[in-house]
Amino acid sequence: MAEKYSRATFTRNFLKTITRIKNPDEMLSDAKKVGLEKSLGVWDLILLGVGAIIGSGIFAIVGIAAAGGDSTVGAGPALTVSMVIAAIACIFSALCYSEFATMIPVAGGAYTYTFATLGEFAAWMVGWVLMLEYAIGFIAVACAWSNHLIQFLSGFEKFLPAWLANPPVWLVNDPFTASKLITPDMFVPKLFGIPICINLPAIIIVLLMTAILVKGTKDSAKMAGLMVAIKLGVIALFVIAGAFYVKPENWTPFAPNGFEGIFAGAFLIFFAYIGFDALATAAEECKNPQKDLPIGIIGSLIVTTIVYVLVALILTGMQDTSAAVPTAFLKAPMAYCMTLAGQNWAAGLISIGSLAGLTSVLLVLEMAATRILYAMSRDHFISTKFQKLHPKYKTPAVLTWTVGGLAVIGILTLNLDVAAELCNYGTFTSFIIVCVAVLILRKTDPDRPRPFKVPFSPFLPALGIITCGGLMVYKSMQPSSSALLFPVWLGVGAIIYLLYGFVKNRLNENKIHNEKVAQRKLEKNGI
Ligand code: ALA
Repeated sequence: MAEKYSRATFTRNFLKTITRIKNPDEMLSDAKKVGLEKSLGVWDLILLGVGAIIGSGIFAIVGIAAAGGDSTVGAGPALTVSMVIAAIACIFSALCYSEFATMIPVAGGAYTYTFATLGEFAAWMVGWVLMLEYAIGFIAVACAWSNHLIQFLSGFEKFLPAWLANPPVWLVNDPFTASKLITPDMFVPKLFGIPICINLPAIIIVLLMTAILVKGTKDSAKMAGLMVAIKLGVIALFVIAGAFYVKPENWTPFAPNGFEGIFAGAFLIFFAYIGFDALATAAEECKNPQKDLPIGIIGSLIVTTIVYVLVALILTGMQDTSAAVPTAFLKAPMAYCMTLAGQNWAAGLISIGSLAGLTSVLLVLEMAATRILYAMSRDHFISTKFQKLHPKYKTPAVLTWTVGGLAVIGILTLNLDVAAELCNYGTFTSFIIVCVAVLILRKTDPDRPRPFKVPFSPFLPALGIITCGGLMVYKSMQPSSSALLFPVWLGVGAIIYLLYGFVKNRLNENKIHNEKVAQRKLEKNGI
C-alpha cells in the first residue's frame, strides 16, 4: 500500500513538475537582466520578414505546385488560388503570433509562448521541434543555395575555368545526392574506401552567414535589406517583362486538376510562406515590439502574398501548365520562362535574384534558431554557457558559432529531401501550438495587457489549428521517410529532456531554494 502511495505521489509530483509554467512576468524580467541590443524598427522587421519568407518556395517549388498536367497533381493556372489558400492558413497563425509577441516580447517565439501556457516539458518539445523548422530548414536552404550557385556558374561556361563552371560532383553535393550522380568513371576521393563528398558552397555560405550574424543583428537586418531589394527587384522585372509575353489562352483550363490540384498546390506552396514566424523570435531586439511586431509580421505576409499571386499569374500565363511541363520549368520556373521568351539577360538576373533571396532566408533562419536556443539556455534546457554575449557586438556569439558548426555537420551527413519535409512538420506543429496557446492564455490569464488581440477569438485561432492540422494530416497520409522520422525526432527529444533538461531544472530549483533559505537566515540574524 505504502509503495502504491509513494508511486502515486511520485507520478503526481512528476506531472506537476513537468507542467510547471513560467510566468510571463518572470520571462520579461529575465530578458531585462541580460538584454540583447534593441536595434530593430518596423522597417527592419518588414525587411527581415520578407527576407525570411521569399526564397526557394517562389524561385523553385512554385514550378512543381503549378504543374497541372496528367502526370502531375499541381494546380495549373489556379495556382493563384492555392497561393491565397496557403496565405490564409498562415494569417491565422500570424495573428496568434502577433498577440503573443506583443504580450511577451522576449526571445524564443513559440517556445516561450508554450512555456507560459503548457509548461516545461511541452516548451522543451516545442523548442526541439522548432529546431526542425529553423536549423534543419537552414541546412536544406543552404544546399538549395549551393544548387542555384552551380546552375548560375554553369551559365558562364565559356568565360570561367572548367573546374569553376562545372565543379566535380563530390565537391558540391551531399553524400546522398552525390551517390545518385556519381558514375564509375568519375574521380572521387576516398578515405578507408569510403567516398568523400562535401557540399563546399553550402558550407561556405553557412560559415559566412554565421560570421555576419555574430557581427550584429542590425548589420544582419541591413544585409537582409540589400538581399530583399535585389530579390524584389528581379521579381518585379519578371512580372513587368513577363507581362508582355503572357498568352491569355494559357489560363484556360483554369484548374486542370480541380480542387485536388488546388489543395496539392496550396500544400506545396505553404513552404514559400515559412519564415514570418521567425520575426517573433527577435522580439527582444525590437525598439517598440508592441506596435512594430504585428505590423512587421502581418505586413510582411501581405507583401509576400501580393508578390506571389503576381508571379503565379505571369508564370501560368507564359507557360501552359495544364499539360506536361519541361524539367527546367520545375527547377527554376521564372528563369526558364524568360529563356523561353528569348530574354536570356533577364534569366541571368533572375538567377542572381534567387541567390540573393536564398541568402536572406538563410540569415533569418539561422538567427531564429540561435534566438530560440538562447531562450532555452536561459531556462537551463541547454548549457547556460550559451548565454554569453560577444563583448563588442552583444550577440550570442558562442551559440551562433555552435549552430553554424552543427549546420556544417548536418550538410555533411543529412539526406536533404527528408530534411526539407521534416522542416514542414516542425512548422505545422509550431503554428498549431501557438494557436492553442493563445486560447489557453486567454482563459488562464485574461487580465494580462494585450496590446494586440486576435480578432474573433476563439474562431480564428481554431481555424488556424484546423488548416495547419489538416495540411499536416494530409502529408502524414502519404507514405514518406519524414512521416516516420518525425515521431523518432519527438522521442529523441523526450529522452534528452529527461536526461538533461529535467535534471538541470531541478538542480536550479534547489539552488534558488537554498539561496532563499540562506537569505532568510541572514535577515533573521539581522545581517
Ligand atoms: N519561405 C522560405 C523559402 O521559400 C523558407 O525558401
